[in-house]
Amino acid sequence: VAGALGAVGSLVAELLWKHPGVELAAITARDTGDGDSPIGKFLYEIYPEHRVPVRLQTLEALDLSEFKAAVVAYPTGAAASLARKLRHAGLTVVDSCGDFRFADVETYEDWYGQPHEAPELLEEAVYGLPEFNRDALKGAGLIGNPGCYPTASVLALAPLAREGLIADVVIDAKSGVSGAGKRGGAAPPFIGTDENMRPYGVPRHRHEPEIADQLSSLGYQGLLSFVPHLIPLDQGELVSCYVRPVREIGEADLHALYEEAYAEESFVELAPGLPTVRDVQRTNICRIYPMRDPAGTRISVFATIDNLWKGGASQAVQNLNLALRLPEGEGVSDSVAMPVSSDRISPLDRPPVSA
Ligand SMILES: NC(=O)c1ccc[n+]([C@@H]2O[C@H](COP(=O)([O-])OP(=O)(O)OC[C@H]3O[C@@H](n4cnc5c(N)ncnc54)[C@H](OP(=O)(O)O)[C@@H]3O)[C@@H](O)[C@H]2O)c1
Repeated sequence: VAGALGAVGSLVAELLWKHPGVELAAITARDTGDGDSPIGKFLYEIYPEHRVPVRLQTLEALDLSEFKAAVVAYPTGAAASLARKLRHAGLTVVDSCGDFRFADVETYEDWYGQPHEAPELLEEAVYGLPEFNRDALKGAGLIGNPGCYPTASVLALAPLAREGLIADVVIDAKSGVSGAGKRGGAAPPFIGTDENMRPYGVPRHRHEPEIADQLSSLGYQGLLSFVPHLIPLDQGELVSCYVRPVREIGEADLHALYEEAYAEESFVELAPGLPTVRDVQRTNICRIYPMRDPAGTRISVFATIDNLWKGGASQAVQNLNLALRLPEGEGVSDSVAMPVSSDRISPLDRPPVSA
C-alpha cells in the first residue's frame, strides 16, 4: 500500500492485513528526515486503531519485482507517475485518486487544472465500480477506484439511467470530514465544522464530471446539478438525488426496477425506508431507497455509504480482488447486503420510545 498513513491508505492496509488471500508485504510513507519520521515504525504505533504490525518503508527502499499488486492512495496528480513505474514493473495497480477515472485526458486536465502525468495509461485503466464493470475489472492491470460521491450517486441513479427515465437530476450530497483526508492539510477545522453545515465545491466539484461520465455510459446525458455539503460527521455520506422523470412510473414498478438491478449484488442493499449514514458505517455497503412523490412528478433516490469504505478503501480491496481473480468479497467487509424486507424499517422511521 503506497500512502499508508492517509485516511484511505491506512484503512486499505488494515483490510489487506486481515485479508485471507493476500499477504500485505509492504506499506509506504514519505520520510520526513527528522525525529518524527514514520519510517521504520509499525502502522499501529502511529494509528492504534489500525492494528497492523507492519513497518512503514519509503517507496524508494522497495524492490518492486517482489510484489504482485499495489494500492496507491496518493492525492490526485501525485499518483500517475508512480502508477507508471508500478505498471512497468509488472504490478497490478488499484489507484484511489482521480488520475485514472476518466477515459479522456481533456476532462481530467480541465477539471483538475493540471497536466496528466501518465496519459498513456488512460486507455488501459478500468473504472472501478464493480456493480457495472465487473467483467472488465477481472484481471485488469490498472483500476481507477471511483470517487466517494460518484460511487453513491451512480449506484443510486443507474437503474433510472438505464431505463431512460431521467429528464434531469439534482444531486444533493453530504459528507463527513474524513472525505478531505487527514494528511494534506485539507481537513476542515473542528471549530466552524461542528454543529454547522455548508455547501462547498460549487459550481465545479471534481466529482461532477465523473458522475456525468458514468451516467452517460449508462444512457443519461442530460442536465446534472451536483451540490456537495460538509456535515459534522467523522465518516459517512448521504446523497439525495431528485429526478424529474421522463415518464411516470408507479411506486411498485420503481421498487421492482431497483430490486431487479441489485438482486445479485452483495454490497448494494435496498432499504425499506429512508436510509441513514449510520446504517452502513464501516461496511462496503451502499444502501438505497427510491421513492416517488404522490403526483408522480418527482423521483427521489437516497443512497448512503461510508466514504472511507465503499467510497474508498474497501471498494479498492473489492477491485483488487477482481483484478487478482480472488473471490470478490474476500477481506472487503464483515457485512454483506441483506435482502429487502418490508418488516424492517429505518431507525429514523421508528416511533419514538415513550417515557
Ligand atoms: N478520504 C476519502 O473519503 C476518500 C475517498 C475516496 C477516494 N479518496 C482519494 O484517495 C486519495 C487519498 O485520500 P486520503 O483521504 O487518504 O488523503 P490523506 O489522508 O491526505 O492521505 C494522503 C496520502 O498521500 C501521501 N502523499 C501526499 N502527497 C504526496 C506526494 N506528493 N507524493 C507521495 N505521497 C503523497 C501522504 O503521505 P504522507 O503520509 O507522507 O504525508 C498520505 O499518505 C486521494 O486521492 C483522495 O481523493 C479519498
